[in-house]
Amino acid sequence: MDLRSFIEQLNERGQLHRIGRQVDWKYELGEMTRSDLAPLLFENIKDYPGYRVFTNGLISIAAIGLALAAEAGKSRKELVRQVRKRVANPIAPTRVQSGPIFQNILAGEAVDLLKLPVPHWNICDAGRYIGTWHVNVSRDPEDGSHNLGVYRMQVLGPRQATISTSSKSHLGIQFAKAEAMGKPLEAAVAIGVSEAVFIAAAAGYPGGKDEYELAGALQEKSVELIKCPSIDVEAPADTEILIEGHVMPNVRVLDGPYFDYAGKATSNPKAYLFEATRILFRNSPIFRGAIVGHPRAEDLLLFSVLSEVGLFDFHGSRLRRALQILFLKEHLFMAFQLAGRIGPEMLRVGPFRGKRSKDS
Ligand SMILES: Cc1cc2nc3c(=O)[nH]c(=O)nc-3n(C[C@H](O)[C@H](O)[C@H](O)COP(=O)(O)O)c2cc1C
Repeated sequence: MDLRSFIEQLNERGQLHRIGRQVDWKYELGEMTRSDLAPLLFENIKDYPGYRVFTNGLISIAAIGLALAAEAGKSRKELVRQVRKRVANPIAPTRVQSGPIFQNILAGEAVDLLKLPVPHWNICDAGRYIGTWHVNVSRDPEDGSHNLGVYRMQVLGPRQATISTSSKSHLGIQFAKAEAMGKPLEAAVAIGVSEAVFIAAAAGYPGGKDEYELAGALQEKSVELIKCPSIDVEAPADTEILIEGHVMPNVRVLDGPYFDYAGKATSNPKAYLFEATRILFRNSPIFRGAIVGHPRAEDLLLFSVLSEVGLFDFHGSRLRRALQILFLKEHLFMAFQLAGRIGPEMLRVGPFRGKRSKDS
């Protein structure tokens, strides 16, 4: 089910709140997403006629069940059991030649990330975050395997954005290999993918194993991929927005402050630099984003389901991971957030932090 069909199904079930009045991308959209904890479709964004923004898609167990086309009325326990069963049967992706993503293409000087309705989510954020509920796609420079991940991204300029992650994430490992070869890492950013693909990207899945196969397993259907026109990376054919570009070697930039999952504004002075070379998008694209750091936000619910399925990994220390999984399983979200704030370097470890200690 692509994002549009998911939104339609939420609408048919009376679970979608459609907001037709004009909403400001600066603070207002984030505030509304925090205060109305239902799936929200913003249909009229200030300065961005023709664009829509969707938030809070996975805000409840019922919504996660719907996104994965699990049988209606499943309890949390049943959903977890069904997802576990599905994960045991990976389904290989298939390749297609075209898709609506080719309807609009911006290249060269026309590339400007702020042509997209990127929200400024929180007053304490340093700027506009284009990557909050997106998928970073890249390939291992040695074995060519794909990695899907969700790593926050702040817009720095028309063609530049941060990617904030640790060197232990799978993107970090792939990037280190490219950097050692002295070359940029080709990378794509897919915004508005099916929630199954998003969940696979957010999941802790062994490096080198194809997360598109995990996404296929989650939705019990092969994910259709297109080859990105200008880089050697494959992306979901049904994505709403696709940004092609490179992660630049030997450059680190400041990301943040950003109000992160642990409910605290953090900065990462060693974020990677992403340079966009092309933007592709469907007609009337739907930008998918999220607010995090709120004990009832959709990211924490998703992490708790992933922890029960055995697919949670922030690439932190073993001790912290064990604690976080325990808190998530018990739905102690505030304790989970606190565990994300403390560590050997007090407040400076974890995938959302810049400087990391050796054991984090
Ligand atoms: C909404 C959301 C935001 C996230 N932001 C980040 C982030 O900024 N940096 C990071 O390293 N991980 C972040 N994560 C967690 C990673 O996506 C997760 O650890 C995933 O397993 C990483 O993929 P990998 O194991 O292939 O590296 C986020 C997850 C979600 C759901």
